[in-house]
Amino acid sequence: MTRLRLGVNIDHVATVRNARGEGYPDPVRAAEMALAAGADGITAHLREDRRHISDADIDALAVICRRRGRPLNFECAVTPEMEAIALAHRPHAACLVPERREEVTTEGGLDVVRGQNSIAPAVRRLVEAGIRVSCFIDPDLAQVAAARAVGAQVIELHTGAYCQAVRERKPQAEALLGQLKEAAAEAHRMGLEVHAGHGIDYETVKPVAAIGELMELNIGHFLIGEAIFIGLGPAIQRMRALMDEARSTRAA
Ligand code: PXP
Repeated sequence: MTRLRLGVNIDHVATVRNARGEGYPDPVRAAEMALAAGADGITAHLREDRRHISDADIDALAVICRRRGRPLNFECAVTPEMEAIALAHRPHAACLVPERREEVTTEGGLDVVRGQNSIAPAVRRLVEAGIRVSCFIDPDLAQVAAARAVGAQVIELHTGAYCQAVRERKPQAEALLGQLKEAAAEAHRMGLEVHAGHGIDYETVKPVAAIGELMELNIGHFLIGEAIFIGLGPAIQRMRALMDEARSTRAA
């Protein structure tokens, strides 16, 4: 089975920095450490309200990723402002996410079915600029089809509902994992590259990583939290090992 890539989301290093308005901890230093520890790429979400990552962070992340030849996955809402920033930097990838100012985090997937008319031209412009475009969607077959219809090359499946159900020991966890599997299989059949992310921790990473169609996981909040206790490098290495274990167990 193909090796699953790990994108490390460093947004919440910036959350801690911004809590005090200081210059530390520096998300760019975290990105350097993450790459040194085995992350395949760096993911960062520039929110409209700049609550964590700043424009200057994106400038610096683009430079270090380019220098190290590693992909920067720029997460952004579908707005003219974010599109202009993506086009100015031309990162390896842009992941289109929904955004509401009042939400604590990205609470659900992008509604590509309803937003097709505005999303399709934005995807086209980004793809024409050489950026690999992904739509962050719920594991829903209509959303998968819509993502393909708007011209995205990649979908990222929102694993938040599944991960939360596991953490809360809810009986629907298995069914939610089934939805992720079904959406991944359908997207793969349609020729889309399939990624997944949101809410993944050491417990949920293995069932998710075992979904053979997935090519990449994007993980942030748990890793940054774990870094407080064991350090960022060891947290990433443990996550990486669990991903590899899930893949080798499945292949056996
Ligand atoms: N993928 C996407 C598209 C996201 O928006 C996020 C959260 O910013 C993540 C992955 C990472 O989620 P978490 O921080 O919960 O691991």
